[in-house]
Amino acid sequence: MKVFYLAAEAEPYVKVGGLGDVAGSLPHALQEITAETDFELRVAIPFHGAIQQQPPPLKFLVTLQVPHYPQPLQAQVYELEQTAVKTYFVSGSLFTRDAPVYSADTSFDGVKFTFFSLACLEFLQAIDWRPDVVHANDWHTAPALYAMLVQPLDFFRQSARIITIHNLPYLGHGAAEALAEFGLPPAVNSPLPVWAQQLPLPLGIYAADRIIAVSPTYAKEIQTSDFGAGLDEYLSLRREDIVGILNGLDLKVWDPSTDAKIEYPYDLRRLQRKELNKKQLFEEFGWRPLEGAPLIGMITRLDYQKGIDLAIAALRKIKDAPWQAVILGTGNPALEQAVYQLQLEFPERLRAVLRFDPHLSHRLYAAADMLLIPSRYEPCGLAQMIAMRYGTVPIGRATGGLRDTILDSGNPETSTGFLFEHPQSEELEITLRRAIQLYSNRRIWRTIQRNGMKQDFSWARSAREYLAVYHEVVQEKTYQSVSEGVNV
Ligand code: GLC
Repeated sequence: MKVFYLAAEAEPYVKVGGLGDVAGSLPHALQEITAETDFELRVAIPFHGAIQQQPPPLKFLVTLQVPHYPQPLQAQVYELEQTAVKTYFVSGSLFTRDAPVYSADTSFDGVKFTFFSLACLEFLQAIDWRPDVVHANDWHTAPALYAMLVQPLDFFRQSARIITIHNLPYLGHGAAEALAEFGLPPAVNSPLPVWAQQLPLPLGIYAADRIIAVSPTYAKEIQTSDFGAGLDEYLSLRREDIVGILNGLDLKVWDPSTDAKIEYPYDLRRLQRKELNKKQLFEEFGWRPLEGAPLIGMITRLDYQKGIDLAIAALRKIKDAPWQAVILGTGNPALEQAVYQLQLEFPERLRAVLRFDPHLSHRLYAAADMLLIPSRYEPCGLAQMIAMRYGTVPIGRATGGLRDTILDSGNPETSTGFLFEHPQSEELEITLRRAIQLYSNRRIWRTIQRNGMKQDFSWARSAREYLAVYHEVVQEKTYQSVSEGVNV
């Protein structure tokens, strides 16, 4: 089985968000669980400026022409040396040294990622590597699947097409012209809504044999008008092809017993050491702990999606209860301002650390008692899984991956965290009060912490599910070809 995996970013080469985590981990997990078989997965990402600035050891492979009007564009492909999973970087004049991974100019990004997607298809032909599966992620690489559908080449005749949706509302707005420039026509005869017939993600979904959402709940949610970004009706038609597979967590990176970024490593048996990390963080911040107050952490992009405004409103409402909080992250300037304002109101209780600081994030996961994740939507989410592994009890909105990973049975003996249903600060307030109250009972709190730490969020579990989907689609393709009378 040969799988070609395309993504806009992948750890450790370049990472902006959750997609980078997944594209960095899943390929390795797949390669590991299939070690003795003839499974091979290869990854391609753009040769972004950030990688060019500090390139890992590379080997130049080929120069390609990517069909484009009025003239073709050139791509160069490099192969990464010394890696367990074969990885390619695709460069071209659009990927300059100081260009960000994602730019604010959506039509520019449209051209950039359509170019990348199509260059990948050219590349596979150039090296004569016929994939059984082409696996795209999000809108950036969706054009590859659509091109395979509308420009049917003998070369890809046996290749199944899979797309993973990490964040549906990012449909690739602004890329319509780019698609036309690269010779990809609107899907006028498709059942897609008219406005979506020229957008990369809808087209990629349309072309895909399987549509994977990054959690079982998100797989259902995208078929509803609240979460469907206008595609819910189309996605409902495709419900047989939709699968929800929860992302995993890199258990080596996120392990409180070996994490070199935290001062006092701990595990299930030495959970009291977690408190030393909390103490240390307070010292470092020159901050006084309030008697009996849990430390609530928020580690997040400051984005409307993440419900920062709900958190601010709810914290303001519970000023009669004991709590302290650290909010770490950057993003929307208006939300940054709102967080900062809250700190001015509650200097004893809140620290706003408005920067991107991976090092501090590890220490905050270790130090905090609770992690707040009040997302309006959360396709999967990683923070809640990290939190549980670090004995930090998550408080999340019951949506997407949060609903699938946080267990709130109402009984602390069997729960791993706290969930609230609707994105309303009143509900979050009630939930926070419930959590703070249980926190005061040390035995009960320990139980919730331990329940979370015992969960299995390994990538191996997810990888097995992806593998099953690969096998399914490949088998279907074979039947299809047989029934079409192709000699296989
Ligand atoms: C996106 C989603 C997030 C998910 C990640 C990886 O960033 O917002 O919920 O965990 O993709 O799939």
